[in-house]
This record gives sequence, C-alpha cells and structure tokens, in this order.
Amino acid sequence: MSQLVFATSNAHKTEEVAAILGGDWQVEDLRAHPSVTLDEETGDTFEANAIIKAVSGSRAVPGLLVLADDSGLEVDALGGAPGVRSARYAGDNANAADNRAKLKTELAKLPQDGPFPGRFQCCMVLARDGVVLHVTQSSVEGRLLTQEEGAGGFGYDALFIPEGFTETFGVLPAETKNQLSHRARALAAMKEQLASLA
Ligand code: IMP
Repeated sequence: MSQLVFATSNAHKTEEVAAILGGDWQVEDLRAHPSVTLDEETGDTFEANAIIKAVSGSRAVPGLLVLADDSGLEVDALGGAPGVRSARYAGDNANAADNRAKLKTELAKLPQDGPFPGRFQCCMVLARDGVVLHVTQSSVEGRLLTQEEGAGGFGYDALFIPEGFTETFGVLPAETKNQLSHRARALAAMKEQLASLA
C-alpha cells in the first residue's frame, strides 16, 4: 500500500478520497499529522488555493506524496458565489449549517424561483517536497434547492441535486456521489499520475 497525505482536516473529504482511491492507497489527513499547518488560502481561484495547500503541506512532510483539494459551490444566479469562499460564506468562523442558511437566504432574495443552476468545482494538486507534480480540475453540474433534503454528505450536499438525478447528494448514497462528484472526477484525472508514483 502506498502512503498519501491528504492536506485537509475535513474528515468527510478524506472519507470520500479514500473510498474513491480504493485499497491501493493508505490515505492520511492532517489529523494524523497535527504539527502540519497549511499556509493561508489567499488565492482567487480553486487552483491557486489547492496549490497553496499542496506546496505548504508537502514542505512540512518531506519525502511524502501530498494531495490537496480546493473545492466549492458556484451558483449562476449569484454570480458564481459562494465560489472560493464556500467554506467561509457566512463568515470566517461559519460552520456548514451557517453556510447553508446563508445560501438559502441569498437564494430567497432572487426574483426568480428555483431550483437554481450551479455546480461543485474541485481542483486537486499533487505535490512532494514543495514541488507541484500534477494539477487536475473537474466539476459536477446540478441545481440548488431552497430547502434541504437529506442528512447525508457534508457542506452544501443537502441543497444540491446533480444533473441526471432527482435527489440531493444529501439523499443519494455515498457510492453514487463518489462515482460522479467533482472530487471523484478530479481524482480520476489524477489516477494515472498517482499510479506512476505508487
Ligand atoms: P475547502 O476546504 O477550502 O476546499 O472548502 C470547501 C467547501 O466547499 C466546503 O467547506 C463545503 O462548504 C464546500 N464543498 C466542497 N465540496 C463539497 C461537497 O462535495 N459537498 C458539499 N459541499 C462541498
């Protein structure tokens, strides 16, 4: 089994990445490396922020392969918000429920009725010793509801219905989300590179 450090403390993301990669990789996140601190996400794009996490994270664990993900939700009727601010939409200390509440409030102000077209975006960056090895980006299109449906997943999942489905990521099984999500697609594009480094 090859070791991969995933530069996040978000247990939900780690669970998804471990499930998507399968048994060949031992995925550890920053909970297993508590001394690692990532540089601040000051970028304006998912790619810039994923690079910041991958480069700073990999400098802190010399010799290890580090994967970083920067992801978020874009809603067309909100001009692409919350976008790169998805984790902090309702404020710097906001939790996922605060962010969903803020999104519902912003959607309710719109003149048109939902559901509202949007997408999840994910940029994945692989790095070692501060050097970027590979970058991938992918997305999943869908529609945003104004009421939450389902308790599965995390973040904005209960408000997002992926294209081709009638239920939110909060209702759909994790296996379904892990086949078609922005994270699954960005990781699929990374698999060849990972295999060559395993
Ligand atoms: P990051 O940790 O800076 O990449 O922030 C990502 C934020 O985007 C999360 O805190 C969630 O609010 C949102 N997000 C990203 N991916 C997902 C997902 O798969 N489901 C629901 N929300 C997500």
